[in-house]
Amino acid sequence: MSESISKAVPRHVAIVMDGNGRWAKKRFLPRFFGHKQGVDALVNVIQACIDREIEYLTVFAFSSENWKRSSDEVSGLMGLVLAAVSRYLARIGDMGVRIRIVGDREAVSEKLRNAWNEAETRTQDNKKLTLSVAFNYGGRWDIVQACKAAMQAGVPPEQLTEAKLSEFTAMSYAPDPDLFIRTGGEVRISNFLLWQVAYTEFVFSDCLWPEFGAKQLDAAIEAFRERDRRFGGVKEAPALAGS
Ligand code: IPE
Ligand code: IPE
Ligand code: MG
Repeated sequence: MSESISKAVPRHVAIVMDGNGRWAKKRFLPRFFGHKQGVDALVNVIQACIDREIEYLTVFAFSSENWKRSSDEVSGLMGLVLAAVSRYLARIGDMGVRIRIVGDREAVSEKLRNAWNEAETRTQDNKKLTLSVAFNYGGRWDIVQACKAAMQAGVPPEQLTEAKLSEFTAMSYAPDPDLFIRTGGEVRISNFLLWQVAYTEFVFSDCLWPEFGAKQLDAAIEAFRERDRRFGGVKEAPALAGS
């Protein structure tokens, strides 16, 4: 393997930021404090991604199923997101980050929708890193909304190829993730990017999200570099000397 390939960084990293509640529990704190600490971890990881020249970072912040949590936790999370936008938007914008929100915006409050719109508009010309925040997102929701959008656009069934349907998915602007990281010790997708992870490399970490930082990101990238991505093909055997 050539030096340039072995040193390659993934272009697109997707992260399930899990373990906030357990981080708080270990410290006898309410779950909310874990989420709050999780926001700071995210800001660190954004900087680490920029330093490593990763182009796309996609994080799972709130799933379609997270509405099942107590109303206290859900409203705490919504408030935290609003506070995080007002606290960090300028800083993240100055870092050269373009923010995009993926997910069903219908169910969130108008206040939060407006904050998302502001974050997207204010950062739309930034080019260093595209940060996609999956909020009220589910992989199944994404596939269904893509099918509906394709039908509404009048795509006839015989023209509905995989590439065509991809154009209607929430992350059509990004290449598929190269590396999927889940913190918090669970080994499942939990309805994150189902369509997009067909050939993504998975790394599961026991580290709880609030404790995840540059060191753990590097460990995941190192594991990624050791993978042999074949995409269903067969790796060519090296030519024999003299043949
Ligand atoms: C992930 O942390 C954050 C969200 C789902 C919003 P959790 O809140 O799921 O933390 P654990 O899994 O209970 O530790
Ligand atoms: C996945 O974590 C969703 C986010 C991190 C936003 P969950 O904590 O909701 O997943 P499960 O319930 O353990 O599968
Ligand atoms: Mg969890």
